[in-house]
Amino acid sequence: MAILVTGGAGYIGSHTVLRLLEQNYKVIVIDNYSNSSPESLKRVSEICNRSPIVQQGDICDRYFLRKIFESYPITDVIHFAGLKSVSESCVKPIEYYHNNVCGGMILLEEMQRYCVNRLIFSSSATVYGEPERVPLDELSKVGGTTNPYGTSKYIFERILEDVSIANPKMNITVLRYFNPVGAHQSGKIGEDPNGIPNNLIPFISQVAVGRLEYLSVFGNDYLTIDGTGVRDYIHVMDLADGHIAALENKKSNRRFNIYNLGTGVGHSVLEIIAAFERITKININYKIKERRAGDIAECWADPSLAEKELGWKALRSIDDMMRDSWSWQKKNPNGY
Ligand code: NAD
Ligand code: UD1
Repeated sequence: MAILVTGGAGYIGSHTVLRLLEQNYKVIVIDNYSNSSPESLKRVSEICNRSPIVQQGDICDRYFLRKIFESYPITDVIHFAGLKSVSESCVKPIEYYHNNVCGGMILLEEMQRYCVNRLIFSSSATVYGEPERVPLDELSKVGGTTNPYGTSKYIFERILEDVSIANPKMNITVLRYFNPVGAHQSGKIGEDPNGIPNNLIPFISQVAVGRLEYLSVFGNDYLTIDGTGVRDYIHVMDLADGHIAALENKKSNRRFNIYNLGTGVGHSVLEIIAAFERITKININYKIKERRAGDIAECWADPSLAEKELGWKALRSIDDMMRDSWSWQKKNPNGY
Protein backbone atom coordinates (compact mmCIF):
# COMPACT_ATOMS: atom_id res chain seq x y z
CA MET A 1 0.00 0.00 0.00
CA ALA A 2 1.45 3.36 -1.05
CA ILE A 3 -0.01 6.83 -0.87
CA LEU A 4 0.49 9.24 -3.75
CA VAL A 5 0.64 12.82 -2.48
CA THR A 6 0.33 15.46 -5.20
CA GLY A 7 1.76 18.84 -4.22
CA GLY A 8 3.44 17.18 -1.25
CA ALA A 9 6.33 19.66 -1.12
CA GLY A 10 3.95 22.55 -0.40
CA TYR A 11 2.82 23.98 2.90
CA ILE A 12 0.02 21.62 3.93
CA GLY A 13 1.41 18.74 1.86
CA SER A 14 4.81 18.69 3.59
CA HIS A 15 3.22 18.63 7.07
CA THR A 16 0.91 15.82 5.99
CA VAL A 17 3.75 13.83 4.42
CA LEU A 18 5.56 14.08 7.75
CA ARG A 19 2.55 12.64 9.58
CA LEU A 20 2.13 9.87 6.98
CA LEU A 21 5.79 8.86 7.33
CA GLU A 22 5.50 8.91 11.11
CA GLN A 23 2.55 6.51 10.74
CA ASN A 24 4.71 4.19 8.59
CA TYR A 25 2.91 4.81 5.32
CA LYS A 26 4.90 4.42 2.12
CA VAL A 27 4.66 7.85 0.47
CA ILE A 28 5.27 8.97 -3.10
CA VAL A 29 5.28 12.73 -3.62
CA ILE A 30 4.87 14.42 -6.96
CA ASP A 31 5.38 18.15 -7.25
CA ASN A 32 6.40 20.58 -9.98
CA TYR A 33 7.84 23.02 -7.38
CA SER A 34 5.88 25.90 -8.90
CA ASN A 35 5.19 27.14 -5.37
CA SER A 36 7.62 25.16 -3.21
CA SER A 37 11.14 23.89 -2.93
CA PRO A 38 12.69 20.40 -2.58
CA GLU A 39 14.11 21.64 0.72
CA SER A 40 10.77 21.19 2.55
CA LEU A 41 10.85 17.41 2.09
CA LYS A 42 14.54 17.22 3.01
CA ARG A 43 13.57 18.89 6.29
CA VAL A 44 10.68 16.43 6.72
CA SER A 45 13.23 13.59 6.47
CA GLU A 46 15.45 15.31 9.05
CA ILE A 47 12.54 15.51 11.47
CA CYS A 48 11.35 11.91 11.21
CA ASN A 49 14.33 9.98 9.82
CA ARG A 50 12.24 8.58 7.01
CA SER A 51 11.89 9.74 3.44
CA PRO A 52 9.16 9.81 0.87
CA ILE A 53 9.92 8.90 -2.75
CA VAL A 54 9.91 12.23 -4.57
CA GLN A 55 9.37 12.71 -8.30
CA GLN A 56 9.38 16.12 -9.91
CA GLY A 57 6.58 16.53 -12.43
CA ASP A 58 3.24 18.03 -13.25
CA ILE A 59 -0.24 16.62 -12.63
CA CYS A 60 -1.25 17.99 -16.03
CA ASP A 61 1.29 15.64 -17.67
CA ARG A 62 -0.57 12.35 -18.05
CA TYR A 63 2.52 10.48 -19.31
CA PHE A 64 4.35 11.48 -16.13
CA LEU A 65 1.37 10.27 -14.06
CA ARG A 66 1.32 6.95 -15.96
CA LYS A 67 4.97 6.41 -15.13
CA ILE A 68 4.18 7.03 -11.47
CA PHE A 69 1.16 4.69 -11.38
CA GLU A 70 3.14 1.99 -13.21
CA SER A 71 6.12 2.26 -10.87
CA TYR A 72 4.49 2.12 -7.44
CA PRO A 73 1.66 0.10 -5.80
CA ILE A 74 -0.52 3.16 -5.20
CA THR A 75 -3.83 2.59 -3.43
CA ASP A 76 -4.74 6.12 -2.35
CA VAL A 77 -4.16 9.65 -3.62
CA ILE A 78 -4.08 12.78 -1.47
CA HIS A 79 -4.44 15.64 -3.91
CA PHE A 80 -2.97 18.95 -2.73
CA ALA A 81 -1.43 20.16 -6.01
CA GLY A 82 -2.98 23.35 -7.30
CA LEU A 83 -2.72 27.10 -7.37
CA LYS A 84 -4.12 28.90 -4.34
CA SER A 85 -3.94 32.69 -4.52
CA VAL A 86 -7.31 34.41 -4.73
CA SER A 87 -5.87 37.66 -6.09
CA GLU A 88 -3.64 35.93 -8.68
CA SER A 89 -6.61 33.81 -9.83
CA CYS A 90 -8.45 36.99 -10.83
CA VAL A 91 -5.66 37.97 -13.23
CA LYS A 92 -4.76 34.44 -14.38
CA PRO A 93 -8.09 32.58 -14.48
CA ILE A 94 -6.99 30.27 -17.31
CA GLU A 95 -3.94 29.06 -15.35
CA TYR A 96 -6.12 28.48 -12.30
CA TYR A 97 -8.81 26.50 -14.11
CA HIS A 98 -6.14 24.59 -16.05
CA ASN A 99 -4.24 23.53 -12.92
CA ASN A 100 -7.09 23.10 -10.48
CA VAL A 101 -9.75 21.66 -12.77
CA CYS A 102 -8.01 20.19 -15.87
CA GLY A 103 -5.07 18.95 -13.73
CA GLY A 104 -7.53 17.27 -11.40
CA MET A 105 -9.38 15.70 -14.37
CA ILE A 106 -6.17 14.25 -15.79
CA LEU A 107 -5.33 12.83 -12.38
CA LEU A 108 -8.81 11.26 -12.15
CA GLU A 109 -8.54 9.77 -15.64
CA GLU A 110 -5.20 8.19 -14.86
CA MET A 111 -6.41 6.94 -11.48
CA GLN A 112 -9.27 5.19 -13.28
CA ARG A 113 -6.91 3.74 -15.89
CA TYR A 114 -4.81 2.17 -13.10
CA CYS A 115 -7.82 1.24 -10.91
CA VAL A 116 -6.78 3.54 -8.08
CA ASN A 117 -10.08 4.37 -6.45
CA ARG A 118 -9.42 6.27 -3.26
CA LEU A 119 -8.94 10.04 -3.32
CA ILE A 120 -8.75 12.79 -0.71
CA PHE A 121 -9.11 16.28 -2.16
CA SER A 122 -8.03 19.64 -0.65
CA SER A 123 -10.99 21.94 -0.86
CA SER A 124 -11.62 25.16 0.98
CA ALA A 125 -14.18 27.00 3.06
CA THR A 126 -14.10 29.45 0.16
CA VAL A 127 -16.70 27.23 -1.61
CA TYR A 128 -19.30 28.55 0.88
CA GLY A 129 -18.85 32.11 -0.42
CA GLU A 130 -20.57 34.71 1.77
CA PRO A 131 -22.10 32.63 4.62
CA GLU A 132 -25.86 32.96 5.21
CA ARG A 133 -25.14 31.99 8.84
CA VAL A 134 -22.29 30.72 10.96
CA PRO A 135 -21.10 28.20 11.90
CA LEU A 136 -20.96 26.59 8.48
CA ASP A 137 -21.78 22.90 8.31
CA GLU A 138 -21.29 20.69 5.27
CA LEU A 139 -24.90 21.20 4.17
CA SER A 140 -24.57 24.98 4.07
CA LYS A 141 -25.12 26.52 0.65
CA VAL A 142 -22.09 26.36 -1.66
CA GLY A 143 -21.26 27.86 -5.01
CA GLY A 144 -21.55 31.58 -4.33
CA THR A 145 -17.85 31.94 -5.05
CA THR A 146 -16.52 35.31 -6.13
CA ASN A 147 -13.17 34.50 -7.73
CA PRO A 148 -11.71 31.87 -10.11
CA TYR A 149 -9.76 30.15 -7.30
CA GLY A 150 -12.92 29.55 -5.27
CA THR A 151 -14.89 28.58 -8.35
CA SER A 152 -12.21 26.08 -9.40
CA LYS A 153 -12.57 24.35 -6.01
CA TYR A 154 -16.35 24.35 -6.28
CA ILE A 155 -16.30 22.95 -9.84
CA PHE A 156 -13.86 20.19 -8.93
CA GLU A 157 -15.95 19.19 -5.91
CA ARG A 158 -18.96 18.82 -8.24
CA ILE A 159 -16.94 16.76 -10.70
CA LEU A 160 -15.81 14.46 -7.89
CA GLU A 161 -19.36 13.94 -6.71
CA ASP A 162 -20.49 13.01 -10.22
CA VAL A 163 -17.56 10.63 -10.63
CA SER A 164 -18.34 8.92 -7.34
CA ILE A 165 -21.97 8.45 -8.43
CA ALA A 166 -20.99 7.02 -11.80
CA ASN A 167 -18.21 4.74 -10.58
CA PRO A 168 -19.26 2.55 -7.64
CA LYS A 169 -15.64 1.65 -6.95
CA MET A 170 -14.58 5.21 -6.22
CA ASN A 171 -14.25 6.43 -2.66
CA ILE A 172 -13.75 10.18 -2.47
CA THR A 173 -13.29 12.50 0.48
CA VAL A 174 -13.43 16.26 0.11
CA LEU A 175 -11.84 18.16 2.98
CA ARG A 176 -12.87 21.80 3.29
CA TYR A 177 -10.10 23.59 5.14
CA PHE A 178 -10.82 26.77 7.04
CA ASN A 179 -7.74 29.00 7.62
CA PRO A 180 -4.59 26.86 7.92
CA VAL A 181 -1.81 28.51 9.93
CA GLY A 182 1.18 27.57 12.07
CA ALA A 183 4.03 25.22 11.44
CA HIS A 184 5.56 22.02 12.75
CA GLN A 185 6.69 22.54 16.35
CA SER A 186 10.34 22.00 15.37
CA GLY A 187 10.28 25.23 13.34
CA LYS A 188 11.97 23.32 10.49
CA ILE A 189 9.01 23.33 8.11
CA GLY A 190 6.34 25.97 7.62
CA GLU A 191 4.58 28.27 5.18
CA ASP A 192 6.89 29.97 2.70
CA PRO A 193 4.83 32.34 0.54
CA ASN A 194 6.31 33.87 -2.59
CA GLY A 195 6.73 37.64 -2.37
CA ILE A 196 4.55 39.71 -0.08
CA PRO A 197 2.10 37.43 1.77
CA ASN A 198 -1.65 37.79 1.21
CA ASN A 199 -2.68 35.94 4.33
CA LEU A 200 -2.82 37.36 7.82
CA ILE A 201 -0.42 35.24 9.90
CA PRO A 202 2.47 35.16 7.38
CA PHE A 203 2.07 38.93 7.06
CA ILE A 204 2.17 39.47 10.83
CA SER A 205 5.23 37.18 11.12
CA GLN A 206 7.07 39.18 8.48
CA VAL A 207 6.25 42.44 10.26
CA ALA A 208 7.57 40.88 13.48
CA VAL A 209 10.80 39.75 11.83
CA GLY A 210 11.32 43.22 10.30
CA ARG A 211 10.78 42.28 6.64
CA LEU A 212 7.62 44.41 6.43
CA GLU A 213 6.98 47.73 8.10
CA TYR A 214 3.37 47.41 9.26
CA LEU A 215 0.24 45.30 8.90
CA SER A 216 -2.80 46.78 7.16
CA VAL A 217 -5.94 45.67 8.99
CA PHE A 218 -8.53 45.44 6.24
CA GLY A 219 -11.58 47.12 7.76
CA ASN A 220 -12.81 47.67 11.32
CA ASP A 221 -16.45 48.32 10.46
CA TYR A 222 -17.73 44.77 10.03
CA LEU A 223 -20.57 43.55 12.25
CA THR A 224 -18.22 41.45 14.34
CA ILE A 225 -16.97 41.46 17.92
CA ASP A 226 -14.53 44.35 17.32
CA GLY A 227 -15.30 45.32 13.71
CA THR A 228 -12.46 43.32 12.16
CA GLY A 229 -12.85 40.12 10.13
CA VAL A 230 -13.38 36.85 12.01
CA ARG A 231 -11.97 33.51 10.80
CA ASP A 232 -11.53 29.94 11.97
CA TYR A 233 -7.74 29.52 12.15
CA ILE A 234 -6.58 25.91 12.31
CA HIS A 235 -3.09 24.61 13.10
CA VAL A 236 -1.52 22.92 10.08
CA MET A 237 -0.56 19.88 12.19
CA ASP A 238 -4.22 19.42 13.18
CA LEU A 239 -5.02 19.64 9.48
CA ALA A 240 -2.35 17.03 8.70
CA ASP A 241 -3.90 14.73 11.32
CA GLY A 242 -7.27 15.29 9.65
CA HIS A 243 -5.87 13.72 6.47
CA ILE A 244 -4.69 10.64 8.34
CA ALA A 245 -8.14 10.35 9.93
CA ALA A 246 -9.79 10.65 6.49
CA LEU A 247 -7.44 8.01 5.05
CA GLU A 248 -8.37 5.63 7.85
CA ASN A 249 -12.10 6.49 7.85
CA LYS A 250 -14.00 3.36 8.83
CA LYS A 251 -17.29 4.87 10.00
CA SER A 252 -18.75 6.36 6.85
CA ASN A 253 -20.28 3.93 4.39
CA ARG A 254 -20.83 6.67 1.81
CA ARG A 255 -18.49 6.70 -1.17
CA PHE A 256 -18.50 10.51 -1.37
CA ASN A 257 -17.77 12.35 1.85
CA ILE A 258 -17.30 16.01 2.66
CA TYR A 259 -15.83 17.19 5.95
CA ASN A 260 -15.10 20.64 7.31
CA LEU A 261 -11.69 20.85 8.94
CA GLY A 262 -11.80 23.78 11.33
CA THR A 263 -11.77 24.39 15.07
CA GLY A 264 -15.33 25.68 15.36
CA VAL A 265 -14.12 28.94 16.90
CA GLY A 266 -13.66 32.30 15.19
CA HIS A 267 -11.03 34.92 16.02
CA SER A 268 -10.90 38.53 14.88
CA VAL A 269 -7.86 40.17 13.31
CA LEU A 270 -7.29 42.24 16.46
CA GLU A 271 -7.53 39.12 18.63
CA ILE A 272 -4.91 37.45 16.46
CA ILE A 273 -2.57 40.43 16.70
CA ALA A 274 -3.01 40.43 20.50
CA ALA A 275 -2.32 36.68 20.71
CA PHE A 276 0.79 37.00 18.56
CA GLU A 277 2.06 39.88 20.70
CA ARG A 278 1.35 37.97 23.93
CA ILE A 279 3.20 34.85 22.77
CA THR A 280 6.17 36.52 21.09
CA LYS A 281 6.44 39.66 23.25
CA ILE A 282 6.85 41.63 20.01
CA ASN A 283 4.77 44.68 19.27
CA ILE A 284 3.02 44.52 15.88
CA ASN A 285 2.79 47.79 14.04
CA TYR A 286 -0.61 48.01 12.34
CA LYS A 287 -2.86 50.52 10.61
CA ILE A 288 -6.59 50.28 10.02
CA LYS A 289 -7.27 50.41 6.26
CA GLU A 290 -10.20 50.00 3.88
CA ARG A 291 -11.93 46.63 3.60
CA ARG A 292 -10.23 44.25 1.12
CA ALA A 293 -12.39 43.55 -1.93
CA GLY A 294 -14.03 40.12 -1.78
CA ASP A 295 -13.58 39.70 1.99
CA ILE A 296 -16.41 38.42 4.15
CA ALA A 297 -17.15 39.56 7.71
CA GLU A 298 -16.97 36.24 9.48
CA CYS A 299 -16.65 32.57 8.84
CA TRP A 300 -16.13 29.59 11.08
CA ALA A 301 -16.80 25.88 10.87
CA ASP A 302 -19.11 23.44 12.47
CA PRO A 303 -16.56 20.60 12.52
CA SER A 304 -18.80 18.10 14.36
CA LEU A 305 -19.23 15.71 11.40
CA ALA A 306 -15.47 15.14 11.22
CA GLU A 307 -15.43 14.47 14.94
CA LYS A 308 -18.36 12.06 14.71
CA GLU A 309 -17.22 10.09 11.68
CA LEU A 310 -13.45 10.53 11.55
CA GLY A 311 -12.86 10.72 15.30
CA TRP A 312 -10.86 13.86 14.54
CA LYS A 313 -10.91 17.25 16.14
CA ALA A 314 -8.50 20.15 16.22
CA LEU A 315 -6.46 20.05 19.43
CA ARG A 316 -4.07 22.97 19.13
CA SER A 317 -4.86 26.44 20.48
CA ILE A 318 -4.41 29.91 19.00
CA ASP A 319 -1.36 30.28 21.26
CA ASP A 320 0.15 27.09 19.74
CA MET A 321 -0.52 28.50 16.25
CA MET A 322 1.20 31.81 17.06
CA ARG A 323 4.15 30.16 18.83
CA ASP A 324 4.80 27.72 15.98
CA SER A 325 4.33 30.32 13.21
CA TRP A 326 6.82 32.52 14.97
CA SER A 327 9.31 29.74 15.63
CA TRP A 328 9.32 28.87 11.91
CA GLN A 329 9.62 32.53 10.83
CA LYS A 330 12.39 33.29 13.34
CA LYS A 331 14.47 30.27 12.33
CA ASN A 332 13.84 30.83 8.61
CA PRO A 333 13.48 34.60 8.10
CA ASN A 334 13.85 34.19 4.33
CA GLY A 335 11.91 30.94 4.01
CA TYR A 336 13.56 27.74 2.74
P1 NAD B 1 1.10 25.24 -1.66
O1 NAD B 1 1.14 26.14 -2.82
O2 NAD B 1 2.09 25.44 -0.57
O3 NAD B 1 1.18 23.72 -2.14
C1 NAD B 1 0.71 23.29 -3.40
C2 NAD B 1 1.81 22.47 -4.01
O4 NAD B 1 1.38 21.99 -5.28
C3 NAD B 1 3.10 23.26 -4.25
O5 NAD B 1 4.19 22.52 -3.76
C4 NAD B 1 3.17 23.43 -5.77
O6 NAD B 1 4.48 23.49 -6.22
C5 NAD B 1 2.43 22.18 -6.22
N1 NAD B 1 1.78 22.29 -7.53
C6 NAD B 1 0.99 23.28 -7.99
N2 NAD B 1 0.56 22.99 -9.23
C7 NAD B 1 1.07 21.78 -9.56
C8 NAD B 1 0.98 20.94 -10.70
N3 NAD B 1 0.27 21.30 -11.75
N4 NAD B 1 1.65 19.76 -10.69
C9 NAD B 1 2.38 19.39 -9.62
N5 NAD B 1 2.51 20.14 -8.52
C10 NAD B 1 1.85 21.32 -8.48
O7 NAD B 1 -0.38 25.31 -1.06
P2 NAD B 1 -0.95 24.73 0.30
O8 NAD B 1 -1.26 25.88 1.17
O9 NAD B 1 -0.13 23.63 0.79
O10 NAD B 1 -2.35 24.18 -0.23
C11 NAD B 1 -2.52 22.84 -0.62
C12 NAD B 1 -3.92 22.67 -1.18
O11 NAD B 1 -4.87 23.06 -0.20
C13 NAD B 1 -4.20 23.52 -2.42
O12 NAD B 1 -5.00 22.76 -3.30
C14 NAD B 1 -4.98 24.69 -1.85
O13 NAD B 1 -5.83 25.26 -2.81
C15 NAD B 1 -5.75 24.03 -0.73
N6 NAD B 1 -6.13 24.98 0.33
C16 NAD B 1 -5.16 25.73 0.91
C17 NAD B 1 -5.51 26.65 1.89
C18 NAD B 1 -4.48 27.52 2.54
O14 NAD B 1 -4.83 28.51 3.15
N7 NAD B 1 -3.20 27.20 2.49
C19 NAD B 1 -6.86 26.79 2.28
C20 NAD B 1 -7.80 25.97 1.67
C21 NAD B 1 -7.43 25.06 0.68
C1 UD1 C 1 -8.08 33.93 2.10
C2 UD1 C 1 -8.76 33.74 0.78
C3 UD1 C 1 -9.49 32.40 0.80
C4 UD1 C 1 -8.53 31.28 1.11
C5 UD1 C 1 -7.89 31.58 2.46
C6 UD1 C 1 -6.95 30.48 2.82
C7 UD1 C 1 -9.23 36.05 0.06
C8 UD1 C 1 -10.30 37.05 -0.22
N1 UD1 C 1 -9.67 34.85 0.55
O1 UD1 C 1 -9.10 33.91 3.06
O2 UD1 C 1 -10.11 32.14 -0.43
O3 UD1 C 1 -9.20 30.03 1.18
O4 UD1 C 1 -7.22 32.84 2.36
O5 UD1 C 1 -5.76 30.86 3.29
O6 UD1 C 1 -8.06 36.27 -0.19
N2 UD1 C 1 -6.27 40.49 6.86
C9 UD1 C 1 -5.82 41.76 7.20
N3 UD1 C 1 -4.61 42.15 6.72
C10 UD1 C 1 -3.82 41.36 5.92
C11 UD1 C 1 -4.30 40.07 5.59
C12 UD1 C 1 -5.52 39.68 6.06
O7 UD1 C 1 -6.49 42.49 7.90
O8 UD1 C 1 -2.75 41.81 5.50
C13 UD1 C 1 -7.57 40.03 7.40
C14 UD1 C 1 -8.59 39.72 6.32
O9 UD1 C 1 -9.33 40.84 5.99
C15 UD1 C 1 -9.40 38.62 7.02
C16 UD1 C 1 -8.38 37.92 7.93
O10 UD1 C 1 -7.31 38.84 8.09
O11 UD1 C 1 -10.38 39.19 7.84
C17 UD1 C 1 -7.83 36.64 7.34
O12 UD1 C 1 -7.34 36.92 6.04
P1 UD1 C 1 -6.55 35.81 5.18
O13 UD1 C 1 -5.48 35.20 6.00
O14 UD1 C 1 -6.15 36.45 3.88
O15 UD1 C 1 -7.63 34.69 4.95
P2 UD1 C 1 -9.11 34.79 4.31
O16 UD1 C 1 -9.45 36.16 3.91
O17 UD1 C 1 -10.04 34.12 5.26
